[in-house]
Order: sequence, then structure tokens, then C-alpha cells
Amino acid sequence: MNNIKGIILAGGHGSRLFPLTIGTSKQLLAVYDKPMIYYPIYTLMLAGIKEILIISTPDDLPRYNKLFGNGNMLGLKISYEKQIKPNGIAESFIIGKKFIGNSHVCLVLGDNIFYGDKLVDYLKVGLNNLKKNSSTIYGLDVINPKEFGVVKFDSKNNLERIVEKPKLFISNTIVSGLYMYTNDVIEIVKNLKPSSRNELEITDINNIYINKNKLRLIKLEKDISWIDTGTYDSMLKASNFFQELEKKTGEKYACIEHMAFQLSYIDEKQFLKLARLMSNSSYGKYLLDKLKK
Ligand code: G1P
Repeated sequence: MNNIKGIILAGGHGSRLFPLTIGTSKQLLAVYDKPMIYYPIYTLMLAGIKEILIISTPDDLPRYNKLFGNGNMLGLKISYEKQIKPNGIAESFIIGKKFIGNSHVCLVLGDNIFYGDKLVDYLKVGLNNLKKNSSTIYGLDVINPKEFGVVKFDSKNNLERIVEKPKLFISNTIVSGLYMYTNDVIEIVKNLKPSSRNELEITDINNIYINKNKLRLIKLEKDISWIDTGTYDSMLKASNFFQELEKKTGEKYACIEHMAFQLSYIDEKQFLKLARLMSNSSYGKYLLDKLKK
């Protein structure tokens, strides 16, 4: 049986958020009380993935390294690779070839935030598909589909094709930035040609799997929020969302330190060390409180 590894792509210039992202990587910006990349790490942890590769620009990689080191403090194994130029999402599987080895792979885009109690169940379905040698994309309905990879359905409502940023309306169902691929993605990516925007397109990979009848679409229903981080306004909305959530539930979402402790990836002593490091912030105090309970 193949094991599964995780890749987080946190590359790009983030030019749609300039000047916010001139000095730093988009995925390090705050979403409420934590760097954005905490959320995709949490998603991978929910899927039970412990080995994670972070891909980012040569400038930004040292900052991720400062944040997570080798992942040991979270009971994870985190490594890093550079993406020199924004050559497309699919390049992740060229850059990550050695890391993936003979495992299956779950890719999450570093700016994709998923929230919902049922998320873990949706992830389980994808993991199960991998066991049956099928890959998975996670779709959902949006009102502005043209900005994304859009799902075209055939007359029987089956997955027919993915069209990247179509000019004309195809459907409201788009492909989110969470993908689970069988190991052969490493071979598939080798034969991809850059698109007209000069990128290796994740959509091309998906269409190859569709042609082989090896791609499953899991539709995220209303019980999952997919939170956009593409504009100043949506970033602020995302922060407000998680602030409100904490007010309502008393719990922080995507608290990877606490998650690592809950999953017994780290013991009490290690957790306390992490909490003490941050004890000046209310985040650190929240962690310390968790130990008192
Ligand atoms: C990328 C993919 C697109 C997908 C989107 C999800 O778009 O190309 O298919 O729907 O991520 O976030 P991009 O971020 O390159 O605009």
C-alpha cells in the first residue's frame, strides 16, 4: 500500500495583493491570529498526513523554515523546495518528485482555506479513492466561476472536463485548490506542455485523469466553507470569520500546535515548550490554557 505525503504550494509573487506582499509571501500574511499557511497545514493534518513539503520562492523559503524548521516541534516532517519562477501549480510534482517517491500525494494551495466539521469526512473519501487507485478533486459552487478551473458536466451529470478560467459560462462548479493524486502524477507531469499563460496547468493533469477515468469529483456542500484570500476585502472577511468563530465556540480553528498535541504527535512537555515560546501573545496563552483543562 502506498503511503500519502502532502505538498503545500506557497509560491508566486502575490502581485494581486501588492503592496501587502512586496515584502513577504502571501501565505505568511495573517488570517486572524496566524499565518495563512497554518490553515492548509491543518487540512493536511486532518487527512492524517505527517510528511509535508513546502514549495515557495527562494526569497521566502527561509521565512517558512524559521516558522516550522523540520517540523519536529509539531511531530511532523517538514521539508522545503524552491520554485524559482511561477511556472504553474503542476510544477509542484516535478519539484517534489524526490519527496513524493513512491507515495500518493495530496496537494493544497497555500492560500486555500477550508473550514467545516465534516471536512475530515470529505478528506477520508479522497483517501479511500486513492486506495482504489483513483485521484480526487474537490469542487464547489461559486458565483464567480470564471476566475477558476470550472467543471464541465456531460448530459448525465458526469465529470466531462475541467476548463481553466473559461471566457463563457460553463457551470458554477469550480475546482478548489485541494487535490489528491495517485503516484503516477509524477509520470503525467513529465509530458505536460506549458499553457498559453506559460504555466504547467493543474487543469491539464486533471483532464488527463478524466480521460483515463481515474478522477473523482467530490463536491463540497454547504457544510464546508471555502474561504477566499484573493483580495484585501476577502482577507479581512476571512480574519473576521475566524475571530467570530472563536468568540462563538471558544476554540481556535487550525491551531496546529494543539492539533499535534491532540493527535499525540507531541507530548505534554513538547506542547508546553511551544506554548511558552508564545506566552506573550493571547495565542500562546490559549495553548497554555489547554494544558490546564
Ligand atoms: C488555480 C487553478 C484553478 C483553481 C484555483 C483554486 O488558479 O489553476 O484551476 O480553481 O487555483 O484556488 P490560480 O490560483 O492559478 O488562479
